[in-house]
Amino acid sequence: MDLLEAARQVRERAWVPYSRFKVGAAIRAESGAVYQGCNVENVAYPEGTCAEAGAIAAMCAGGDYRIAEITVIADSPEPVPCCGGCRQKIAEFAGPEVRVTMATIDGKSRTVTVAELLPGVFSAAHMDRA
Ligand code: THU
Repeated sequence: MDLLEAARQVRERAWVPYSRFKVGAAIRAESGAVYQGCNVENVAYPEGTCAEAGAIAAMCAGGDYRIAEITVIADSPEPVPCCGGCRQKIAEFAGPEVRVTMATIDGKSRTVTVAELLPGVFSAAHMDRA
């Protein structure tokens, strides 16, 4: 399945009564399977979740734990950059070379690597004392 199309389709299912800003995300796992997620807001605003988080949760629920590629789409004038929290969430399951594509519904897109998206990433190695 085309990742951009998968992200575009799931974006329509976003629950966004507060921001009215729908976001869709699609991950191709290393297995080849595609997982989709949309943002899901909550009246208690901090409880809302981003599209990327939803796609990552779907990936884990599907038994996949490595991201090969991820695409995010929104109706914005310029491709929407993943928020800081989502950058760290993506980095949990993706190597630094993995491509992250950010797109708009009117056809603009920008692709960067995970390393470009989150320079200086916090990793498990930072907890090694020995
Ligand atoms: N949002 C995402 O789902 N992903 C992003 O990369 C940027 C922001 C959502 C969160 C919230 O529901 C809405 O967009 C406005 O911030």
